[in-house]
Amino acid sequence: MWTKSKIFSSKNKFTVNALKWHWVRFWMRFAGLSNIGRIATRFASWFAPPHKASVAMAAMNPKGYIAPSAVISHANLRFGANILIGDRVVIFQNKDGGFVEIGDRVQILRDTTIETGFGGSLSIGNSTSIHPRGQINAYKSSIEIGKSVEIAPNCAFYSYDHGLGLDKNISEQPLESKGKIVVDDHAWLGVGVIVLSGVRIGKGAVVGAGSVVTHDIPDGGVAVGVPARVIKMREDIYQKNMNEKNRQG
Ligand SMILES: CC(C)(COP(=O)(O)OP(=O)(O)OC[C@H]1O[C@@H](n2cnc3c(N)ncnc32)[C@H](O)[C@@H]1OP(=O)(O)O)[C@@H](O)C(=O)NCCC(=O)NCCS
Repeated sequence: MWTKSKIFSSKNKFTVNALKWHWVRFWMRFAGLSNIGRIATRFASWFAPPHKASVAMAAMNPKGYIAPSAVISHANLRFGANILIGDRVVIFQNKDGGFVEIGDRVQILRDTTIETGFGGSLSIGNSTSIHPRGQINAYKSSIEIGKSVEIAPNCAFYSYDHGLGLDKNISEQPLESKGKIVVDDHAWLGVGVIVLSGVRIGKGAVVGAGSVVTHDIPDGGVAVGVPARVIKMREDIYQKNMNEKNRQG
């Protein structure tokens, strides 16, 4: 039964929530990558609801939401509109690191680390999501991630290797690369996928959880395992489902 005090307390809750969102909206108007923008985002975050509230906050301002705990230490950054940079994300420019270009509405979620160095650069197309704890190291060669790509948690991209000679410690070996990494539009990488240098993951391709990609995957291919091998094509799955539907209907 609704008592008077219950009604008052739910009314109070509603008012407090509305006030909190006013506060968030007010400060998000000033959000951005500048010092003032980052302070404004910190103020906004004080009363923001937890976790996925940052998605709504990113939509409030074309400069997007950059979590106060994110560390951005990169002199050649291009951010698109309404991006979301989550808690403790690191974007770091190492020696001779190339640009980092992040498209509109890209989400880079908590504890992801991005680095460019030694001529490597990174581009991420519009509406792509990189889920928590990603590691993207664009050294020696570039990493190009297309539009609307879904990258599950714990994925790693390394566009370089250390040399393997016996004359020096591994950490002192010159860096090598088999070439750039390309992930084409609409691809989906399952949890814990590792992508090594010199590969192209095709348009709309799917890579199974825990796979290691060492060779190209064609457009629409579904690849799994270590190393990742194509087990089927999405087109064939679609055709099979259509044939089944036609047989039944
Ligand atoms: C790749 C994937 C989509 C394929 O799903 P599916 O089409 O239903 O494939 P199936 O379950 O029919 O598997 C086909 C074969 O591949 C194997 N396989 C499937 N996924 C695998 C994987 N990640 N690693 C190794 N082998 C795998 C299956 O064991 C099966 O082998 P079998 O024929 O010898 O039994 C799915 O297995 C997967 O890995 N999903 C990722 C889930 C995830 O990370 N979610 C995060 C959300 S963002």
